[in-house]
Amino acid sequence: MSINVPETTEFTGLSPEALLERVLGACLGMMDVAAIYIGDRLGFYQALARNDSLTPSELADRTNTNERYTREWLEQQAVSGLLEVENPGESPEERRFRLPRGHAEVLTDRDSLWYSVGLIRGLIGSSLALPSLLEAFRSGGGIPYFDYGADIREGIADGNRPMFLNLLGAEWFPAITDVHERLSADPPARIADVACGSGWSSVALARAYPRVHIDAFDLDQASVAAAIRNVAAEGLADRITIHREDAADPSLAGVYDLVTIFEALHDMPRPVEALRAMRRLLAAGGSVIVADEHVSETFTAPAGDVERLMYGFSILHCLPVGMADQPSAGTGTVMRPETLDRYARDAGFTDVRVLPIEHDFWRFYRLSG
Ligand SMILES: C[S@@+](CC[C@H](N)C(=O)[O-])C[C@H]1O[C@@H](n2cnc3c(N)ncnc32)[C@H](O)[C@@H]1O
Repeated sequence: MSINVPETTEFTGLSPEALLERVLGACLGMMDVAAIYIGDRLGFYQALARNDSLTPSELADRTNTNERYTREWLEQQAVSGLLEVENPGESPEERRFRLPRGHAEVLTDRDSLWYSVGLIRGLIGSSLALPSLLEAFRSGGGIPYFDYGADIREGIADGNRPMFLNLLGAEWFPAITDVHERLSADPPARIADVACGSGWSSVALARAYPRVHIDAFDLDQASVAAAIRNVAAEGLADRITIHREDAADPSLAGVYDLVTIFEALHDMPRPVEALRAMRRLLAAGGSVIVADEHVSETFTAPAGDVERLMYGFSILHCLPVGMADQPSAGTGTVMRPETLDRYARDAGFTDVRVLPIEHDFWRFYRLSG
């Protein structure tokens, strides 16, 4: 197909050459994402991290993969700067490849705040739905969360886990002084963790506050199963109970000192109903803490990396998930503070604040009243 640009049209923005350069950079980025996905899923990075250096056949033996494919991947990783080659002048079969220590942290250390593979898997998982997504754009329908499959679910879990385990109890909650004091005190506080996913926020809360009891809720069966496994493996099943329940279910009622919802409100088709249900869960004086994306307060274009990342996930995943169940508010990943404020007040909260907790990706809100 060729497009005739009217002669009177003036070019604005980038020159064709500069834009093509940018698009090529994006293509290389997408190839990095796919190649990192391969390296993680096949255990290549893990094997390289356990050894000083490996030849293609040594890596293939250790990972039960084909030598020819493995060699091509190693060379692709080396030319892309993710691996180093000890002896580039040797024959292809004898070359030894090494994963630098700092790279190993980003690519293999699930506990590190620098771990990136959750994001990679989330992006691959989002992209797998592209054929259904085109249909959703045309029809106005959506794509149910579980249709995206394991990469999204496990990618979100692995992406958020290091933040929960490293920051929640050490920085985020101690910064909310009265909540921190209540969770540390007797009688033991009760927490409802709504849309808990694979349960890592609940684990982090239970680790940080050894007295608290937590009921954690999620709708997605596979997430609930993973949360039950994770909580049991952490030895916390006596203090965390996982429920497969809709946060917007009007029959949910309880007496919780705190209700939390991490990175999930914008995915919900009816966020006001969900917040109303959370408000009902609260004991007198309790509050809801919402952690959601740290997007700009107003629309600006072009914008920075965080905004681009959030809009990217919005079109690929969060908006279609929210649109899967109609009627839908159609929020998408880019839920601005003004939108949250409106949802919270419509749900009956009278006090809505942004908390002074600094994070590149998340903004924290406290809803009460
Ligand atoms: C982006 S994930 C976040 C999971 C987890 N909070 C985290 O931070 O890792 C969104 C989660 O919201 C859950 N969810 C969406 N709507 C829900 C609802 N109405 N009730 C309970 N969970 C819901 C999904 O099943 C999914 O696990």
